[in-house]
Amino acid sequence: MGTHLYKTRLDLGEETRDKVATLLNQTLASTIDLKTQTKQAHWNVKGKDFYQLHEFFDEMAGELEEYVDMVAERVTALAAVALGTVKVAATNSILEDYPLTAVTGEEHLTALADRYATYGAHLRKAIDLAENLGDADTADLYTEISRTIDKRLWFIESHLH
Ligand SMILES: [Fe+2]
Repeated sequence: MGTHLYKTRLDLGEETRDKVATLLNQTLASTIDLKTQTKQAHWNVKGKDFYQLHEFFDEMAGELEEYVDMVAERVTALAAVALGTVKVAATNSILEDYPLTAVTGEEHLTALADRYATYGAHLRKAIDLAENLGDADTADLYTEISRTIDKRLWFIESHLH
């Protein structure tokens, strides 16, 4: 999934920009996927905790929407092309497909816990990759997202005890 690089005055080398943009585009695809999966839970959850979970899932989806924009714009700041259509996201996401048969709060929470954990592990790996490629700003962006995702995993898992 190599990405086209534009000419830029930015003081990061082409190899760094190429590798970091490819990593960010994988994150972009996965973030779009996770956002729509979280919306799927927001719309379809049923049971006695409906309203609380309906609102909780929407808050998480809203957060992810902000990260979609931040990640895409970091790609373009590196003078590369952000790959952010849903069709590309569906192909490049690292996440498992969402179980469309999920109904209860527990089923949706478990599905989201699994996916937030996968996404969180990807972010933590990406912090080190970006750092090692000499892009501290991208590492910082990953750190910010990672901190929120860890917190959200805690919230999700706390419902499951
Ligand atoms: Fe809604």
